[in-house]
Amino acid sequence: MSVPDIKESYAEFADGMDRLEWLDRLIMGRYRRRRFGDVEGKVLDVACGTGTNFRYLPETVELVGVDISPEMLANAETQLGDLGRSATLREMDAQDLKFSDDSFDAVISALSTCTFPNPVAALHEMSRVCKPDGTIRLVEHGRSSVRPIARLQEWRADTHYAKSGCRWTQEPREIVNAAGLSVEDASTAMFGMITTLEISPEQGAER
Ligand SMILES: C[S@@+](CC[C@H](N)C(=O)[O-])C[C@H]1O[C@@H](n2cnc3c(N)ncnc32)[C@H](O)[C@@H]1O
Repeated sequence: MSVPDIKESYAEFADGMDRLEWLDRLIMGRYRRRRFGDVEGKVLDVACGTGTNFRYLPETVELVGVDISPEMLANAETQLGDLGRSATLREMDAQDLKFSDDSFDAVISALSTCTFPNPVAALHEMSRVCKPDGTIRLVEHGRSSVRPIARLQEWRADTHYAKSGCRWTQEPREIVNAAGLSVEDASTAMFGMITTLEISPEQGAER
């Protein structure tokens, strides 16, 4: 799917995803909190969607959220109001971030690289806008390490992609490796379907 196709899909999903956020908190909340809960300074949430990550970030951070979908961002704005927090939200393609090099202390993203048409380009952009001593944090889904579950995922992969543009058997670590970035720390959960990563921004590459 192209970026405009994905944008159109998420215009449809935005309100449904917002309504189901309680379920995400139940299932994914702990992984988001563990991977994102200690970021500091100026933080960029790439493909922030409805703002699901926001509640897990320290109150002290200076938060910027970007997403390709104005409908998702509208829900993120409401989420900020509900949480009593402030942030700058901008419509932007993760593969072409409109920020200068070394702008952020931390770049975070959740459940997103699976929908970017060019996830390696998006990771290079995350790395470019992150300070050299900063940190990139991801919470992603991928192919299960349990064979029957992986088979089920593979069976539904094409249908799921056609509906949402999401490659749900994509392996997050392979994308990070393809981008030439170093993984500092990783964890997996939910039968290998969830991977959380702490990554170092590349030093000067792709700039
Ligand atoms: C599954 S949602 C995840 C949203 C949020 N990060 C979360 O964890 O709930 C994927 C998000 O990626 C956004 N997205 C997809 N392609 C994008 C792109 N090229 N640039 C920016 N955002 C994009 C979608 O609009 C959607 O909000």
